[in-house]
Amino acid sequence: MFFSMLKKILIALVAILLIIQVFRPEKNISDINTYGIATKYQVPADVDQVLKSACNDCHSNLTSYPWYADIQPVAWWLDNHVQEGKSELNFSEFTSRPLAVQNHKFEEIAEMVEEKEMPLPSYTWLGLHSNAKLSDQQRRLIIDWAKAQMDTLKEQYPPDSLVLKRRG
Ligand code: HEC
Repeated sequence: MFFSMLKKILIALVAILLIIQVFRPEKNISDINTYGIATKYQVPADVDQVLKSACNDCHSNLTSYPWYADIQPVAWWLDNHVQEGKSELNFSEFTSRPLAVQNHKFEEIAEMVEEKEMPLPSYTWLGLHSNAKLSDQQRRLIIDWAKAQMDTLKEQYPPDSLVLKRRG
């Protein structure tokens, strides 16, 4: 009795796993860079390299997918990170945002990296993206870079154009 029940449940689970393989989120792979961060800001090669290996999978329009991204339900889970990450910060569309938002994003980048909240811990978990595990030196590099961009903005624009207007 018990085993035949268990067998039915297992068969149902396998069937569900097979069926969901058909549904895959669209991949985040556009290389259009009209509003890319480097069209307005200095992005030195060493900074660019850290952003590419540790941030861009979730914060740009060009994700480099691992093999397991083709397996469901993993693909949904990854896609969720990409969509959520991009809605907060998208280096491929960075300069299309209002100036005050760009300025604020640099501040958040420095903060998130300083507090080791980014890259997302699940991303470097199990050594899946070992290149994204940042050394203290790499963290410093990104923090200093983000702050330098804020200084440059401050020199170029009137102060109130850099202040976020709170809605309502
Ligand atoms: C695996 C995906 C992933 C990677 C890699 C990643 N992020 Fe994020 N990031 C997210 C998600 C999801 C959010 C939104 C939810 C949250 O804040 O946790 C986010 C939010 C942010 C925010 C906005 C935080 C706020 O205050 O709301 C900043 C800034 C940020 N990330 C910077 C970075 C930087 C810089 C890197 C690289 C060093 C990086 N992220 C790497 C997924 C990622």
